[in-house]
Amino acid sequence: MSTTQELIDVSERRSAHNYHPLPVVIHEAHGAWVTDVEGKRYLDCLSGYSSLNFGHSNPKIIGAAQEQLKNLTLTSRAFYHDQFATFCAGLGDLTGKDMILPMNTGAEAVETAVKVARKWGYEVKGVRPEQANIIVMEDNFHGRTTTIVSFSTDPDARDNFGPYTPGFRIVKYGSVEAIREAVDADTVAVLFEPIQGEAGVLVPPDGYLTQVRELCTAEGILMIADEIQSGLGRTGKTFACDHEGVVPDMYVLGKALGGGVVPVSAIAANKDILGVIKPGQHGSTFGGNPLACAVGNAVIEILNTGEFQARAAELGEVLHARLRELIGHGVVTVRGRGLWAGVDIDPSLASGRELSKALMARGVLAKDTHGSTIRLAPPIVISEEDLVWAVDQLADALASFRQS
Ligand SMILES: Cc1ncc(COP(=O)(O)O)c(C=O)c1O
Repeated sequence: MSTTQELIDVSERRSAHNYHPLPVVIHEAHGAWVTDVEGKRYLDCLSGYSSLNFGHSNPKIIGAAQEQLKNLTLTSRAFYHDQFATFCAGLGDLTGKDMILPMNTGAEAVETAVKVARKWGYEVKGVRPEQANIIVMEDNFHGRTTTIVSFSTDPDARDNFGPYTPGFRIVKYGSVEAIREAVDADTVAVLFEPIQGEAGVLVPPDGYLTQVRELCTAEGILMIADEIQSGLGRTGKTFACDHEGVVPDMYVLGKALGGGVVPVSAIAANKDILGVIKPGQHGSTFGGNPLACAVGNAVIEILNTGEFQARAAELGEVLHARLRELIGHGVVTVRGRGLWAGVDIDPSLASGRELSKALMARGVLAKDTHGSTIRLAPPIVISEEDLVWAVDQLADALASFRQS
């Protein structure tokens, strides 16, 4: 039996089946390329769901982590440490916000956003006790905690995990009218993804973000942008909201903030909002730890150069132009922004999973979502040549399905 098969067998036997991985066992990775335990190389077109925007083993990020490992990894937040101030000030400057509340995973940051919005609602806006509601979107993906799945519309994510947390109103994504109809005096926030990643890289209609901003301002409710997947360079801007020049009241960040090294997440907001949190009211043992902050500081420095944002915009043009050429040749629709694409394929040809396997056989790792959609989000360090080669492999895989 091959090493790959042995490792897969043990993994399947000894771990919960909460994922359905492609049959590849990765051993190492650099830049946009990964190598499996058999020595076969693949081009990574998923980037840890955008956690690896700056590439596998990015030298600057790995260097910062190695330096920090020598000095200090954890203090708990009972004490200050010397990486924390730089992280909060740096991320505050990048987001244009006064304050940061660091956590670890994306879901924790979303939970934090929900808690802060409710507390702000009761203490600043003056909504009725226990009555705060938050407007969220159909087909959202914000993580896996019980509160977050309570407002998911995906049966897989939600079913049989009740009883559910109340206080959320689900409206159609992309419709500002739907939000307007759902708002009442107890609404504290609108929580949304500026591009819905897990739903298949769904880009809302032009002007939507601007209209949501205007509505939130007019109604005195918080606009909370979950930029965990869309933010930090992926779409060709620092934040996906930047495409409409819109500034939300709160950013929710994660994934790439940890440079593909450690889980780092945070919310960013001004003092009139985040100031509602006082000692003992929220926290996490590892949130804002020295290693996380050192890695985050390297990520912030990288983003401050603007190079990755520009590169994602430039390569995104190449990616989308090449993908559009495949429409009518097995591809039905292409969506996305920057180096991020959702590609719907003709369901009569193959499922997204079958296509992902065919791509894997050709040396490209991508992931299906919702039946016949695949997502492409390579590390932004990818070369143009490799990017074009990846789309060529997609064309080839689709052609093979059309012939069979
Ligand atoms: C938009 C968005 N929010 C939240 C999350 C949850 O992040 P995590 O898996 O780190 O909890 C994800 C993960 O895919 C996401 O895409």
